[in-house]
Amino acid sequence: MYNVRNVTKDIVWVGASDRRLALFENIFPIQRGVSYNSYVLLDEKTVLLDTVDTGVAAQFFENLEYVLGNRKLDYLIVNHMEPDHCAMIGDIVRRYPEVQIVGNAKTFGMMQQFFGTAFAERAVTVKEGDTISTGKHTLHFVMAPMVHWPEAMVTYDDADKVLFSADAFGTFGALNGNIFADEVNFDRDWLSDARRYYTNIVGKYGASVQALLKKAEGLEIAVICPLHGPIWRENLGYILEKYQKWSTYEAEDTAVAILYASMYGNTASAADALAGCLAERGIKNIAVYDVSNVHVSELIGEIFRVSHLVFAAPTYNGGIYPIMENLLSDMKALSVQKKTVALLENGTWAASTARQMCEKLSELKDVTVLDTQVSVKSAMLANQREELEKLADAIVTSMK
Ligand code: FEO
Repeated sequence: MYNVRNVTKDIVWVGASDRRLALFENIFPIQRGVSYNSYVLLDEKTVLLDTVDTGVAAQFFENLEYVLGNRKLDYLIVNHMEPDHCAMIGDIVRRYPEVQIVGNAKTFGMMQQFFGTAFAERAVTVKEGDTISTGKHTLHFVMAPMVHWPEAMVTYDDADKVLFSADAFGTFGALNGNIFADEVNFDRDWLSDARRYYTNIVGKYGASVQALLKKAEGLEIAVICPLHGPIWRENLGYILEKYQKWSTYEAEDTAVAILYASMYGNTASAADALAGCLAERGIKNIAVYDVSNVHVSELIGEIFRVSHLVFAAPTYNGGIYPIMENLLSDMKALSVQKKTVALLENGTWAASTARQMCEKLSELKDVTVLDTQVSVKSAMLANQREELEKLADAIVTSMK
């Protein structure tokens, strides 16, 4: 059965949700599923903005056929060439042989790479500032390189003031009938997945997101239509403010997250005791994570959210515990910045992981590692309580 909803009188959402896929990009767990958004503009000309992933192809074509009815498809605009959005281009051409495909020079280069053809006979190449009129609507093309791939662009409809924002403003999570952010409790149910999506997918490209936000300032935007997750038609300032923080690597909350690795529970015990010491000093909403049991993408989301981090880990093969090392490497890959960090290490002999974690953290921008550190020998005993209290004091002082 078709499942479509109007975004405006002339724009219809024809996307679909996947609740079967376990791992987005074969990396990220998506317990809440994911949506692939696609939009049709019905004007004197008909326009499809992006397609979908193969996993929801049947639903997508049912939706598209219903919305187009007897009309032909005039344009397919390809804002983004990642396969979760471009997979159906060949099928669109086969079903709608008169369609013209709109993209920029890089779009068609990638099309050649993915499909062995750039559909030259039907390609319309656009660049920054170009427009296409469809009748009542004029579509403006704005390049958005590295949000999230080099060819990415966004499309602005000046009649309905709609920004088709590609991956920007997207989030993990299936759409459950409510396709608009104002129809859900976004802050309670969606924000952490939106942050996880942004920080892990686009987090590295903060400067590129900033460039796009600056361009968006020049547009009068009433509706933001991303390629994943809810559409924004109210309270746009809420999500724009989040993007401003995330893309400048500013913490959302002055808060502490303790991330520990623990082989037999002794480092975990020290981490928990430190959380207790911080709580005794009035620190609220402390988050504690076992890095072996929480997916790294969740940890990255939390690392972006908070201002202060504690890393606690055993020394392993003379190095950093591998799962912790992977997390620190991911932080570098995703360009984490502007954090204050405290370190706690463990080692039954030759503990060295604090020094090695410190070295890895020194590769990040604007990360301050506190001088006060705690080194545990096998298990934290009561005679080390004072050191733990001093570490808690140093963290609290750094939060003032
Ligand atoms: Fe949802 Fe960069 O693709």
